[in-house]
Amino acid sequence: MSVIADKCPNIKVTVIDIDDKKISSWNDEDLRNLPIFEPGLKEVVERCRNENLFFSTDIKKSISEADMIFISVNTPTKNKGLGAGYASDLKWVESSARQVAEFSQGHTIIVEKSTVPVKTAELIQEILKSSRSSDEFKKTFSVLSSPEFLAEGTAIKDLENPDRVLIGGEDQDAMESLSNIYKNWIPKEKILNTNIWSSELSKLTANAFLAQRVSSINAISALCETTGAEISEVVKAIGSDKRIGSKFLSPSPGFGGSCFKKDILNLVYLCRYYGLNDVANYWEQVMLMNNWQKHRISSLIIQKLFGTVSNKKILILGFSFKPDTNDTRESPAIEISKDLIENGAELLINDPAVSKMQIEMELGLKEFENNNRNIGKWQFIADIDKSANNADAIVVVTEWEDYKNLNWRKLSDLLRKPSWIFDTRGIIPISMLKELSSYYWQIGSPSINN
Ligand code: UDX
Repeated sequence: MSVIADKCPNIKVTVIDIDDKKISSWNDEDLRNLPIFEPGLKEVVERCRNENLFFSTDIKKSISEADMIFISVNTPTKNKGLGAGYASDLKWVESSARQVAEFSQGHTIIVEKSTVPVKTAELIQEILKSSRSSDEFKKTFSVLSSPEFLAEGTAIKDLENPDRVLIGGEDQDAMESLSNIYKNWIPKEKILNTNIWSSELSKLTANAFLAQRVSSINAISALCETTGAEISEVVKAIGSDKRIGSKFLSPSPGFGGSCFKKDILNLVYLCRYYGLNDVANYWEQVMLMNNWQKHRISSLIIQKLFGTVSNKKILILGFSFKPDTNDTRESPAIEISKDLIENGAELLINDPAVSKMQIEMELGLKEFENNNRNIGKWQFIADIDKSANNADAIVVVTEWEDYKNLNWRKLSDLLRKPSWIFDTRGIIPISMLKELSSYYWQIGSPSINN
């Protein structure tokens, strides 16, 4: 919404939320306190806030004044009830639609921005339809689907220069109104019109394909390690085939983030719902491979450290699910850390953007706490060099730029021997790893000096 405000000075954009705290942070004078850390966002908000971009909790007034409403609420995986563990919880979409039905005036275009299961637009339409009959003023609605394809960490760039904008719907006038907004900065060839169900399904499919690529390369990374093949060479060889393409082929400890897991589970649920069990099983395997990769890595760390990490000090570098974000949702660092703590390790966790509180929340364990003698503990560290002193291993979990530039030789020398460096993102050049005073393991690479 900030980018729309930035690109369309003639449009007044109001972001509303029921959460006062969130809205006050968006209105905070100190732009460092914005609730989301995203490169370039601060600057956009600074330019537009209180010009044509507003943040408010006045839901009634804002809805009644709006010509177009983007429903952009979260749709987490249900943790109980029908479809638990797979289906999306649409309660926020439903309550937003009810508020729109209640407070809107005249004709309103509703744009489904949240990622939703196919046929959600029908639910929104149903709710909106029921409001009209009981109202003396005529209200009319058009529902469109326009899923968002931005990735975290590059969100502003992705929004300013998207590969495509998808607009799904039936009402041509409404589709044109939305198109006209994007045409302010996006060439019209990149604006694709589809029917509403194709648009909803395209979002799930795009994320499923991307996640599948990560699981595919991660599966091959394990095979490289055992056969003596080098994953970087395999990636280069297959990536130069134009049909495959070179992007999204980096092996990793597993994909994280708020979307991939949720969307695949959703797809699996949809397939099962429509009786397509083989299709469901096919996509579910992408998820299973991702879980396997995380536990494979924690197991091999334990195994390399003589089969036990009890009371061993291990540095974890990176806790966000990818660099340039403070988002930790579904980060592979969570499962890997939990496994190691459960096996008695003392973790020293560093991340350039994630807070101590956030890590506490994800691990379900307070810093320094060891409420059960059989499990280890963790602490947050800011000084990597100091913490490496006498530690047993370093694990790179997130490929932050800062970690690429560390003095690996010095760090390795500080570790208690025999020590290990585990590079789960392949950020340290193999030539350097080979020269270190520690043993090393790098994803997708046969370990030579162990
Ligand atoms: C994703 C989609 O890319 C985006 O289009 C959609 O709108 C939301 O979901 P995001 O979750 O922000 O975006 O991150 P993305 O860059 O796609 O990475 C997801 C995860 O996959 C990260 O944990 C990342 O480390 C991992 N990944 C990505 C790999 O392991 N290897 C790769 O080659 C690429």
